[in-house]
Amino acid sequence: MSIRIPRGTQDILPGEVEKWQLIEEKARELCEKFQYREIRTPIFEHTELFLRSVGDTTDIVQKEMYTFEDRGGRSLTLRPEGTASAVRSFVEHKMHGDASQPVKLYYMGPMFRYERPQAGRFRQFVQFGVEAIGSADPAIDAEVIALAMSLYKSMGLQKLKLIVNSLGDKKSRTAHREALVNHFKPRIGEFCQDCQNRLEKNPMRILDCKQDRDHELMKSAPSILDYLNDYSKAYFEKVQKYLKNLDIDFTVDPNLVRGLDYYNHTAFEIMSDSEGFGAITTLCGGGRYNGLTEEIGGPEAPGIGFALSIERFIAALEAEKVDLPLAKSIDCYLVSLGEEAKDYTVGLLQQLRMAGYSAERDYLDRKIKAQFKAADRSNAKFVAVLGEDEIKANKINVKSMESGEQTEVELDSFIEKFTSLYQS
Ligand code: HAM
Repeated sequence: MSIRIPRGTQDILPGEVEKWQLIEEKARELCEKFQYREIRTPIFEHTELFLRSVGDTTDIVQKEMYTFEDRGGRSLTLRPEGTASAVRSFVEHKMHGDASQPVKLYYMGPMFRYERPQAGRFRQFVQFGVEAIGSADPAIDAEVIALAMSLYKSMGLQKLKLIVNSLGDKKSRTAHREALVNHFKPRIGEFCQDCQNRLEKNPMRILDCKQDRDHELMKSAPSILDYLNDYSKAYFEKVQKYLKNLDIDFTVDPNLVRGLDYYNHTAFEIMSDSEGFGAITTLCGGGRYNGLTEEIGGPEAPGIGFALSIERFIAALEAEKVDLPLAKSIDCYLVSLGEEAKDYTVGLLQQLRMAGYSAERDYLDRKIKAQFKAADRSNAKFVAVLGEDEIKANKINVKSMESGEQTEVELDSFIEKFTSLYQS
């Protein structure tokens, strides 16, 4: 039996990979404008890192991590997300001491979660994410959200919905937590086992339960917004004001609970509002995580960020039928006639490529007609034809595929002549 790809993973083949490259390029371009710099961290980390940051009551930690013991008996985990690693690296490299603050980082790479695969949900997926660490200015919350929205918009997405919430600071959350426990406790027996376990450990997680989401107590559950203290309230108002200033539409959703434990204050998600989109509509999620650096053993450095997967980005582009500029062409295709000419094109091809042109030739001993067809298929701007007679006469025939015009140029100054034809 032949070996197949593991469940929940995918091969990105040529033809499809160009979409990925386009998004990646756009993301890098935007990060340059917004002044975020790339960080690359390992694919695996000590398991402890995710227990402490993502949180041991979350689905990610409890059910979805690829954890293994290495030959030295250490517990390692394939990263399920990028924030923990970015913050670990911030602490480990003492970036709080860097001259420019806040430290603004971005990353792009594979993440791993053992989830039930379905449309838009993979076991290996690629996240693009940003983290701004070292500032508690609500303007940076707005900046981070603006970056994500700008990326989607620059690729042509229009049907987007931004939802925001505030989870408040520690004090607000403690008050809310108590209210949640009082609300659910008398009837917790009607909820799933997970929710029962969450009641004491992390009652806010109950609001995120998929199984019990229609239970009447869910709708009447106390809203975090009623428990925000003055600082948290003022902070959230500032974030909203900045978003309005930036003309970014949003809806406040007090039930927005993110699936990771490190959040406080601003939390947000960007959803696709497109009709053709599948059941999973969240494209991007993020929020503020003041206190996470301390959790990982560093000094205080409040942070905020987001992550989005390229897989869902592409699904949204397809649902909105966005036309991407993917048509590829090459500068020159070399057609040869006869053995001597064929040998000659090996060197010519290299010269073209080293001069900065994309170029190709035949490697299947095809007849001249088939070589022209191949040139057509690769959308060649020029086709240069070389036969034995031409070699003798120190000539090569260059045809512009756009105008149909043919020019004979000297073979020994081909690159120079090709350049002037190309530029004319
Ligand atoms: P998250 O909400 O777990 O947050 O994931 C962020 C995004 O990753 C999701 O909105 C979705 O686009 C994508 N994603 C998650 N799981 C899958 C999957 N199984 N298949 C495909 N795409 C998926 C985080 O990961 C946080 N680290 C975000 C963050 C950064 N918060 C602050 N900074």
